[in-house]
Amino acid sequence: MAHELEEPDFALQEYPGRELHDALRRHRERHPVTPARFLGQPAFVITGHAALRRAFADDVRFPGHRMYQASFEGAIGESFISMGDDARHRVYRKLATPTFRSRAVAAYEDESLVGIARELVDKLSERIIAGETVDLVSGFTASFPYRVITRLLGLPRDRENEFHAWAVALLGFRDDPARGIEARNELTRYLAPIVEERRANPQEDVISGLVQAEIEGRKLSNEEIFSHIRLLFPTGGETTYGTLGNLISTLFSENLWSEIAGAPSHIPQVIDEALRFESSIAVLPRMSASCETEFEGVTIPPDSWLMFAVAGANRDPSVFESPDTFDIGRTSGDMLTFGRGKKSCPGMHFAKRNMIVALQVLLERLPALELVDTNAAIPRRSVLRAPDALRVRARR
Ligand code: HEM
Repeated sequence: MAHELEEPDFALQEYPGRELHDALRRHRERHPVTPARFLGQPAFVITGHAALRRAFADDVRFPGHRMYQASFEGAIGESFISMGDDARHRVYRKLATPTFRSRAVAAYEDESLVGIARELVDKLSERIIAGETVDLVSGFTASFPYRVITRLLGLPRDRENEFHAWAVALLGFRDDPARGIEARNELTRYLAPIVEERRANPQEDVISGLVQAEIEGRKLSNEEIFSHIRLLFPTGGETTYGTLGNLISTLFSENLWSEIAGAPSHIPQVIDEALRFESSIAVLPRMSASCETEFEGVTIPPDSWLMFAVAGANRDPSVFESPDTFDIGRTSGDMLTFGRGKKSCPGMHFAKRNMIVALQVLLERLPALELVDTNAAIPRRSVLRAPDALRVRARR
């Protein structure tokens, strides 16, 4: 198969902008499953839409929990994402995520989401009016998803600026274990008195739900509660951070910022198309079962790295017409941005509402912006894809 095809390393190569999509297209045109690399090790990348749907559904050949055990369980602790036992995964997932379901999210939006977005955007707006160039990454996308999720979890506002750095350290445990453990310890010290306080005085938040929950007649241990909090804010925060950055970047590169500001009723379609076009989880690592297996005619050795190329499937021309065009009028297609099967994203509704509200507030307050540094605004990397900076000023 395809010896002359490059073997991209999805952990190490930067793949700015179209480079990622072009590489994934070349692979998909050859075969839906092709050789690749991950952290220097041999891997396979799945780029075809139909093949990736089958792979997401195949828990025997590609058990979903193994990669999380190998990557960040050492920092986050055991949580439902890394549980191999189906029944346990289901029980803990249900306990930890009720507030992320669609009705709960709709209730939360009115009270909090808009207020959090306005608070951040108003600060930027003052500086822009004063003629400054501001960075929408450090000033907005790196804060908004964390402020939103930490309040939904039930955490006070005193250390909200540290959550992004904690998330990066926890998710990056494999690359820098010392920093991952340090973040775990700091966060646990911070959480311990809050969990105790919620035991005595429960509120309407995720921590209170967890302290009151029972499994087979027993309450959750503190460690079980800590590990689920250590899971939810980085998985929810980093993914939304990256996808929001990619969305803003795309609106500038497609010259759509002011046009959508003038037609805000299109925002929900814009978000759907942005989630297809440039998701933060462009490539999702997986580990195969510990026995040799066959998939789409390819022999996969035991314990192989698989790269689930969501970005490849989301631009598969057999499913999406003109897939490289950002088209907000798109009505059909089955994007795989939030995964499939039993590990499909429990934060999907929450993420979408966050993105809709974020864009509404940004466009309402800052309708006439121009991008100053187009290079820094290009989405980079493939596992957690995001632009490094989005420097903007008032349009001149
Ligand atoms: C645009 C933002 C988001 C994207 C692109 C995204 C993407 C994904 C994907 C692709 C999966 C499947 C992973 C797999 O199969 O191994 C997933 C699972 C997950 N997501 Fe999200 N997600 C987003 C937002 C969120 C939010 C806001 C939360 C917070 C609640 C969240 C929490 C999780 C968790 C905990 C899992 C693991 C589910 C399980 O093991 O059962 N995500 N997400």
